Parts: sequence; structure tokens; C-alpha cells
Amino acid sequence: MFEERRTPELIEAFARRTREVVSLSHVGVSYNSTAGVVSALTEVSTQLMEGEFVSVIGPSGAGKSTLLRCLNLLVMPTTGVVSFKGIEAQNLRESERRKIRRQTGMIFQRHQLLARFTVRQNVLMGLFGRYGFWQSAFGFVRGRFSREDEQAVDSVLLELGIHEKQHVRVDQLSGGQQQRVAIARAMVQSPVLLLADEPIASLDEGRANDVMHKLRELNQKGLTIVCNLHDVEVAKKYSSRVIALRHGRVLFDGIPDALTPEIREMVFAL
Ligand SMILES: Nc1ncnc2c1ncn2[C@@H]1O[C@H](COP(=O)(O)OP(=O)(O)OP(=O)(O)O)[C@@H](O)[C@H]1O
Ligand SMILES: [Mg+2]
Repeated sequence: MFEERRTPELIEAFARRTREVVSLSHVGVSYNSTAGVVSALTEVSTQLMEGEFVSVIGPSGAGKSTLLRCLNLLVMPTTGVVSFKGIEAQNLRESERRKIRRQTGMIFQRHQLLARFTVRQNVLMGLFGRYGFWQSAFGFVRGRFSREDEQAVDSVLLELGIHEKQHVRVDQLSGGQQQRVAIARAMVQSPVLLLADEPIASLDEGRANDVMHKLRELNQKGLTIVCNLHDVEVAKKYSSRVIALRHGRVLFDGIPDALTPEIREMVFAL
């Protein structure tokens, strides 16, 4: 009986479902601000699949950062549903959300590293979420982590090409190198999803390309990436899919080649 019900459509739907990392269904996010209620996202529905490299573009205030925060459950939608690997987030306790959040790595424009600590120490801090603060802080103060953790740190430092800089304080590195440290710190948690919020906004073109290349390499090894970008050309060059937001709504969601100059103009029109 079961056999009979396994139509090609059902099998296809199941395959898609298992490859799904996060989905948003009719998501709306409103913030209460001093100026009243601000609608940051409206009716956003999209599905992120394993192995995708999605760029999110749009003018300032379009809702890009809010979208990223929804994807790692830092912001819960006012309306609609966010599901992470098929689990609906709104019914979870905060501790369960935190567990899910640990499966995502986050990189920011101003990388949020601790300037007075070394590269290695900053990357080790990426493990704090796994163990809880006190246990990690204890290991950190004693300078002792498990051999496995130290190996994980070595391998991401090598992967990001900053191993020889491991004992240098991060405030002595270039902006591009610092951004690599931020990527390494996110990667040491072995995330299933990497979220990058304008990771190249404060870098010159050469450094920016370098960071984007690194993200592409990680994506080619199977990591799912969502990256907020201001620069449409960079988005088209590096991603497998582009989502364009304007006033909190999705104006475009598709392959980079389908993003025509007309759509682009609509997205960024003043
Ligand atoms: N914590 C908050 N409280 C109130 N309003 C907020 C908050 N965070 C964002 N907003 C508002 O929500 C809207 C979307 O903001 P968001 O930061 O997601 O945009 P963005 O596309 O990332 O912009 P940018 O390109 O400038 O980073 C904006 O109108 C913003 O003012
Ligand atoms: Mg933003």
C-alpha cells in the first residue's frame, strides 16, 4: 500500500525536504521602535537547500540583516513560520533554539573579534557556544582545550591560510586577514549553515575578492552559505542564487543570470 503511494512527486518532495536547511513560510517581522512599529520583513517565503550559495541584496533598510537573524533564529517572526531542518522554530524553548543556532556560523561586517587577543585565541572562542560559557572560559584561562578542539582549530587556521599568524594579535592584521579569522571562528563549530552579513563591506576590492574566494571554496566543499551584499556584481559572480529585498519584500529570487538590469533598477530605485 505504501509502495503505491510513493509517486514520483512524493519522492521528489521528500528529497527536496531532506536537503532543506531552513525554510521561511509567509514570514513577517515587525520591530517596536520609538518611531512606532517598523515592518522589516513582509510575506517572505523561501527555502534554502544544502550546498547553495545565496546572496541577499537590497538597499539599506531592506531587511537583509533581519532575514539573516531569522535564519539562525535570533529573531522570531511576528507572523509566519521558520523551520530549521524541518523543525518549526516558534514552538521551541530558547535552549532548543540555542542548540540549533550552534549549527550556524555568523560573520559580520565589523568582524567582532577581540582585538587584544591572538588569532588562535579568537578562533578558540568559536567553540564557546558548544561548551557553555564557564567551561570554555575555564579552558581558555588555563590555555587548555581538548586535543580534538586544538586540532579543529589547526585545521580551520590552515584551511583559511592564517595558521602562520596564529600567535599574532588580531589588531595587528589587515582587514582581510581579520575577516579570515572571523570566518575561521565561525567554521570551527563545523556549522551546517554559514551566514555572512556584509562580510566585505569594509574591505578594498582585492581583500574583498579574497574573502569571497574563500567563501566560495568553503561552499564548493559543501557548506551552505547565505551572504548579505551591497554589491550586485559580487553577488552575481559568487552565488548560485540571489534574493533581492526591497522594503522587506522579496522582489527577486532566482539564479544570478535571471537578475536583469530592469529588476536591479527596481530593487535599488530611490
Ligand atoms: N532592533 C531594531 N529595532 C527597531 N527597528 C529595527 C531594528 N533592527 C532593524 N530595524 C528596522 O528594520 C528595517 C530593516 O533593517 P535591517 O537592518 O534588516 O536592514 P538591512 O537591509 O540589513 O540594512 P543595511 O543595509 O543598512 O544593513 C529598517 O527599517 C530598520 O530600521
Ligand atoms: Mg544590515
